[in-house]
Amino acid sequence: HRLVVLVSGAGSNLAALLDAHADPAYGARVVGVVSDRPGAAALDRARAAGVPTAVVALPDFPDRASWDRALTEAVAVFTPDTVVLAGFMKLVGAAFLDRFGGRTVNTHPALLPAFPGAHGVRDALAYGVKISGCSVIVVDDGVDAGPIVAQEAVPVADDDDEETLHERIKVVERRLLVDVVGRIARGGLRVEGRRVVLGG
Ligand code: GRF
Repeated sequence: HRLVVLVSGAGSNLAALLDAHADPAYGARVVGVVSDRPGAAALDRARAAGVPTAVVALPDFPDRASWDRALTEAVAVFTPDTVVLAGFMKLVGAAFLDRFGGRTVNTHPALLPAFPGAHGVRDALAYGVKISGCSVIVVDDGVDAGPIVAQEAVPVADDDDEETLHERIKVVERRLLVDVVGRIARGGLRVEGRRVVLGG
C-alpha cells in the first residue's frame, strides 16, 4: 500500500510513519513526501530515510488553483493508494480532491468538530476545556470538517501552555496516525456519509 505524506513542519508524524513502514507487516510504505515549504525539517527526515521528496510552494505560483494543480501532479507522480496530511498547513483544493478525495486523511491536534483550523491547541486552551486530544479525519473541502476516522483524548493539565499540551497531544497523535494508516493499508477505509468504518 503506497503512501504519500504531505508535510509543512517538523515531521514528527512523518518520522513515526517511517519507523512503522520499516516493518513489512505494517502493510504500507511511504513512497514520497511532498512539502509546501522548502525549508521544512520533515524533508530532511524523508531524505535521511531514502524517500524521494518534492516541494510545491504556493509563492511560486500565480494563484492558488495552479498551486493546487501542481501539488496534485507532484503527489500523483508517486501513485499513492492513500495520501496522509501530517502537519500539512495548507488547504488542498478542488483539483486535489478530484484526484485523491476519499483516500486522503489528515491529523489534527484537537477533538473535532471542536477547534478546527491552524491553532487547535491554542484555541482549546483558551476555551478552557479539560480534555482535548487528536483526530484523524478524511479530508474534504471544509476546514478540518471531514468524516472522523479515529480520535483519542488527552487531559489538559492546569499548568499547560500551548507548547506543553501540544507536545503531549503529539505523542498520542503519532501513535493514532500510525495505527489508523496501517489499518487503512491492511483493511481499507469505508466512508458511509459521516460514518467511517476502518478495516485491518
Ligand atoms: C501536528 O500536531 C499536526 O496535527 C499539526 O501540526 C503538528 C505537526 O507536527 N497540525 P509534525 O510536523 O508532524 O511534527
